[in-house]
Amino acid sequence: MLLRVQIIISLLSSICSLVYGQDNLGLSNGYTKFQAGSFEGQIVKSSQTLASLNSSRTGFDFLPFDFLPQLALNGAHHLGDITLRYRTAGTGKWTSVDSATVRKPVTALNTSDANVVAASNLLPTLPSGLPLSITREWLRNGDDFAVRFNITNTATTALELGSLGLPVSINNIFTGRTAEDTQAKCALADPYIGLDAGYVRVTHLQGTGNALVITPLGSTPFEAWRFLHEPSGNFSYQSQTFEGNYEWQVHSLAWAENEWNSTKPWNPPTSRTLQPGEVYSVGLRFSLAEDIQHIEEAVVLTGIPLAVGLPGYVVPSDSTTSLYLNYSSPIKSVDTEGAFTISKKNSSNSAYKLTPTASAWGRARVTVSYEDGKTQTVHYYITKSAPSTLADLGHFFTTSAHFTNTADPFHRAPSIMTYDREANKIVEQDSRVWIAGLSDEGGTGAYLAAAMKNFAQPVANEVSVLDEFVHETVVGTIQQNGSFGVVASTFYYEPGAVNYSYDTSFDWTSWTSWNRERAYTTRRAYNYVHPSATYWALYRVARNYPKQRLRADWSWYLGRALNTTQYCLANESANCDYGLVGLMGEWVLGELLEDLKRENMTAKASALEATMRYRANLWETQAVPFGSEMAWDSTGQEGVYYWTNYFKLPATPPKVISSILAYMPTVAHWGWNGNARRYWDFVYGAKIQQIERQIHHYGSGLNSLPMLHSYEQSPSNNLYALRVGFAGNTAPLTNIDQEGFASAAMHSYPELLKWDPYSGDNGQGFLGLSLGQCVYVVGGDGQYGGDLVFGGDIDEERSNTTTLVVAPRDAVRRRAFIADLGLKIEVSAGAIQTVVYERMTHAVTLTVVPAATSDALKASSVIVWLKVMGEGNTTAFTVAGAKVERGGWVVDLTSGSESVRVLKA
Ligand SMILES: *[C@@H]1O[C@H](CO)[C@@H](O)[C@H](O)[C@H]1NC(C)=O
Ligand SMILES: *[C@@H]1O[C@H](CO)[C@@H](O)[C@H](O)[C@H]1NC(C)=O
Ligand SMILES: *[C@@H]1O[C@H](CO)[C@@H](O)[C@H](O)[C@H]1NC(C)=O
Ligand SMILES: *[C@@H]1O[C@H](CO)[C@@H](O)[C@H](O)[C@H]1NC(C)=O
Ligand SMILES: *[C@@H]1O[C@H](CO)[C@@H](O)[C@H](O)[C@H]1NC(C)=O
Ligand SMILES: *[C@@H]1O[C@H](CO)[C@@H](O)[C@H](O)[C@H]1NC(C)=O
Ligand SMILES: *[C@@H]1O[C@H](CO)[C@@H](O)[C@H](O)[C@H]1NC(C)=O
Ligand SMILES: *[C@@H]1O[C@H](CO)[C@@H](O)[C@H](O)[C@H]1NC(C)=O
Repeated sequence: MLLRVQIIISLLSSICSLVYGQDNLGLSNGYTKFQAGSFEGQIVKSSQTLASLNSSRTGFDFLPFDFLPQLALNGAHHLGDITLRYRTAGTGKWTSVDSATVRKPVTALNTSDANVVAASNLLPTLPSGLPLSITREWLRNGDDFAVRFNITNTATTALELGSLGLPVSINNIFTGRTAEDTQAKCALADPYIGLDAGYVRVTHLQGTGNALVITPLGSTPFEAWRFLHEPSGNFSYQSQTFEGNYEWQVHSLAWAENEWNSTKPWNPPTSRTLQPGEVYSVGLRFSLAEDIQHIEEAVVLTGIPLAVGLPGYVVPSDSTTSLYLNYSSPIKSVDTEGAFTISKKNSSNSAYKLTPTASAWGRARVTVSYEDGKTQTVHYYITKSAPSTLADLGHFFTTSAHFTNTADPFHRAPSIMTYDREANKIVEQDSRVWIAGLSDEGGTGAYLAAAMKNFAQPVANEVSVLDEFVHETVVGTIQQNGSFGVVASTFYYEPGAVNYSYDTSFDWTSWTSWNRERAYTTRRAYNYVHPSATYWALYRVARNYPKQRLRADWSWYLGRALNTTQYCLANESANCDYGLVGLMGEWVLGELLEDLKRENMTAKASALEATMRYRANLWETQAVPFGSEMAWDSTGQEGVYYWTNYFKLPATPPKVISSILAYMPTVAHWGWNGNARRYWDFVYGAKIQQIERQIHHYGSGLNSLPMLHSYEQSPSNNLYALRVGFAGNTAPLTNIDQEGFASAAMHSYPELLKWDPYSGDNGQGFLGLSLGQCVYVVGGDGQYGGDLVFGGDIDEERSNTTTLVVAPRDAVRRRAFIADLGLKIEVSAGAIQTVVYERMTHAVTLTVVPAATSDALKASSVIVWLKVMGEGNTTAFTVAGAKVERGGWVVDLTSGSESVRVLKA
């Protein structure tokens, strides 16, 4: 969502620079240069904090050295800082300490150890009277660089450390930089909060070249990841252009007992008691990974345990998942706290099969203890079976969120509106008007999710609710006066213009409280995708389930989808702003184009192609074609990839994939695995409004589409892309609660750790899920051994060396990809119940059934679409004995389940 205002504020504050020039760090005393294995960099002489940390191979600096003079103010954290809370052991109040609060030059320590780059006593920069002495050393460690803190209890009584944090500040400052500069210089950090196996991955925004891996030095468990509050400073700390800094917490009890006492932390909170004179050493180790795809190899080289879950860490209750552990010390125990039953996958003792137990649902922590005393946690999320999760969502949004008050002066009824799970009611007003106005992302999430759910799994009464909404409210209220323009909001704040009682607890003076004229503007291109997707979903239902009576013929829905899109984007996007950047969810416009072609609507297809070709050609000329309303964004990549790939433009698709790789990690934690970077949309679409890293906001579902596509294009040696893409695509299941309410995203700050109460912009991520879910038959894999399947379970009893039998466990049950063949199979309706792949003959046999759930509409026939992925592959496939229609093969389902045999043509 747009906030030009914010960008202007960022610019203003960097221009005004009230705090510019506060050299609390002591930069004027200069720097000490160092070389350490794969790194080189500089340490600030006065503070002995890290100023730059460059790859000695590429020269890339992971730290904001160019901005350092404006980051030298008190309160701004740097690598090398330390925070803690202590008290007399077991009693009393915690005292907080932070080495960044009031900086004074530290006392340099002399050393004869060639591996010590710089050492200091932090005494001067810590509060006076502190009963602890803290030294800090920057170390060479083989090919790596490291920092070590020695904390000594100088009191005569035992002291308890209830919090110990090591700030991890990297160059995630986009403020005041051009898109090219941001891409060239900045980086993002993502945590794996996994105790002794924890690490932070730092990736260059460009997505290519070396990555930085931060692991424990000695025993330094990664217990929690805490956001650091800092002064706004020169770069608008905690804003759209500067998310802010976090710290690696070794202990967190003092927070868990206080600020975080209403949440369930990722790991059990601990403290550490130091006897008088006792020294406690903790530290971080910095290693260089060849590239993002080789981060895990770099982790293993540091000698800590590595866990890899395949397909990932979101586990539908009717499926199993595999956990691969890579560590030198034997496993002592694996504790799932009752969430899973576990069995060994093979004799090697390091691969496990996990099956959710009957009652398990939601967050589940698996704790692995090793013989050498190390402990690792792997964080899972268990959902209901994926189709029943979708069923819940469809039911919830078409009942609880169904707005039927036809006396509404804004003419929003009937519709599916934003829902507030805390108040358990529809959000009929909000000073961010679009949230109650059926537009933008924040006001469309609920209806879009319901529409896409019914594309995937249509249910008669839900389809009727959507159909009424489309005919009564999309046409007329969202698209007014016979135009295909889409209003920015149907709800507005203008007391004089409407007889409506506005809730005075909102601040209606905000820039977000548009009056009618502003609300009825139709220039925001993003707003067009949501109604277009809704029309398209109903086209698919009408076309594939002809017995379901809708108010119009299928061609009407298809025509509305096309006209709505073209109104905005045709003619170089003349009617819209932002039409020439990638739009959230526009992957669906690719589906629309395919359907126009399948329907032989050649002229219409050509017109849409022309619109998209103009945009794609434009992007191909741009150095960083990921523009949006925001200064930096992770939303444009999906559309930019779709169309530049569609038109086979060479430069852009690989650039998009690299860009996504930088902001979409894979780690052994469901919350960050496949979690494409999003951190400002709580402000525009959520109830708790703040800049905060979002857990599975719509970026996960949307960015997964290009990642999965890039895997399909070239599956060999590309498991990393599948892992990231599959994680992001499955993530939207975690936003759906046990009754079907779906939240915009989860709050990641330890004091919240809960889903936002608003449905907000949930549907955009759900769209990604509905268009991406697929069973990936990866086949034999050397690294993990045996056959791999993502989105399905191998039927061990029926499979043998020549035949692989797979039961789909994905949410949509209509797609399969056979990596061996580069073949993508999709059915237009119904559901795929089994996939049998014969390795020798390369034949694929599907069992297709009329519906995925008992409540869903039953398809009486389906079209099977076959597509061989990968450039230049001319291998063709066919469905034995079927006739061709709408670009695929028709299979009759009137007798129920049907066996569909796909063969090489
Ligand atoms: C590291 O990168 C910075 C750019 O951020 C550059 O100014 C510096 O010269 C590089 N080398 C060292 C040793 O700091
Ligand atoms: C460190 O060494 C220098 C020169 O060898 C000496 O002048 C200085 O006093 C020493 N400092 C400390 C704290 O020992
Ligand atoms: C810090 O402690 C380690 C042992 O953990 C020791 O080797 C090192 O010399 C200590 N450093 C200082 C500056 O005391
Ligand atoms: C949580 O901590 C706050 C202080 O930070 C305290 O006021 C409150 O009573 C605590 N609540 C519980 C349930 O312990
Ligand atoms: C789409 O627009 C064309 C004119 O450009 C019009 O003929 C057609 O009826 C419209 N389709 C629908 C379904 O409104
Ligand atoms: C499209 O045209 C082809 C070739 O003329 C024809 O076989 C097919 O039936 C047509 N499809 C539709 C949906 O009209
Ligand atoms: C493998 O299983 C398939 C059916 O699941 C069966 O048709 C085939 O004969 C079996 N092959 C071997 C070598 O056992
Ligand atoms: C084309 O697909 C076949 C499988 O039918 C596969 O063996 C081959 O490697 C693919 N060729 C290319 C160039 O992708």
